[in-house]
Amino acid sequence: EKGGYDHFMLKEIYEQPKAVKDTLSPRLNRHNEIKLDDISLTKEDLERFNQVYIIACGTAYHAGLLGKSLIQKYVNVPVIAEVGSEFRYNDPFIDEKSLMIVVSQSGETADTLAALRMAKERGARTLAVTNVVGSTISREADDVFYTWAGPEIAVASTKAYTTQLVSLALIALDMANKKGTISKEKFNELIEELRATPAQIEEILKMDESIKDVAKVITKAEHIFYIGRGIDYDVAREGSLKLKEISYIHSEAMAAGELKHGTIALIEDGTPVIALATQDRLYDKTVSNIKEVNARGAKIISLAKAKNTEISKSSDHVMYIPDISDDLSPILSVVPLQILAYHVATLRGADVDKPRNLAKSVTVE
Ligand code: F6R
Repeated sequence: EKGGYDHFMLKEIYEQPKAVKDTLSPRLNRHNEIKLDDISLTKEDLERFNQVYIIACGTAYHAGLLGKSLIQKYVNVPVIAEVGSEFRYNDPFIDEKSLMIVVSQSGETADTLAALRMAKERGARTLAVTNVVGSTISREADDVFYTWAGPEIAVASTKAYTTQLVSLALIALDMANKKGTISKEKFNELIEELRATPAQIEEILKMDESIKDVAKVITKAEHIFYIGRGIDYDVAREGSLKLKEISYIHSEAMAAGELKHGTIALIEDGTPVIALATQDRLYDKTVSNIKEVNARGAKIISLAKAKNTEISKSSDHVMYIPDISDDLSPILSVVPLQILAYHVATLRGADVDKPRNLAKSVTVE
């Protein structure tokens, strides 16, 4: 049932090109038109919303952070992304002018479901992005968008996350198009990029062995830091979560620009730092943060677009991803981080499919 792979997690990492394609293809026609047949939001609805909330937990929350960036940028509406367990108790301002998007692989997560119910009680419109047909969240939301990732067995979420990213990108682009807040040119450009991602993920999967070599370098570490700016910071959080949940190494994701406000004190000779530098507009800033930690002895593993080879001068190792716009980079940049976490965990002898203390679906608050 693991299809020749040692673990479900690895199988699911390798299923990502197909999962992403299955999520995208039914929603796009040859003319680059998005058909979200399952979502009934109109132009009038979109013009009415003055606030969008994206609520989820764990990995699904990290995917939600990309939704936040894209909706804010292309749909021209303020977006708050928050974890379910905080949102519920933070006296949120939410009313009939709000749209709540919940993201949940299982569709059963207690805190996410509670947030959805709260939104409905306050008269907000609700939209669920979920992977499980017939799940509680899919039944209770006004509209549902399914990620077609197929069953995800491993506790550590991988293909659910990439399909959530793609789904949120489609939703954001469709909203922007309906509302008239994106140019036709930009819209087409991003759709074409989305179409290219399955083949690009395939390319990244070929780096498996070389990423394993990088994993060997950090297997014995006690602490690992992930740094990045903007969307890279969102992906850094997902990479860090992946590593800690299956390898049990303490890891932390930091906004790269925030390091010097405290955390840099923890960098010593040999501390591994995974530095995400895939954002063109923030590249120089991130590289200067890399140099700061490098100067304190950190072992730098960078993640960059293939064109930025000069980053190797300030890095011990570099993992490259194919060229893609900043906006959609997480669909690619998370993959080497998933593979890295997988190899670190297996090299340490951990049971990656059943990490200690964790359940696949968290139905308690
Ligand atoms: C991490 C992981 C969890 C889930 C979280 C939400 O790898 O799987 O963080 O993402 O428990 O679960 P869903 O998406 O089912 O609501």
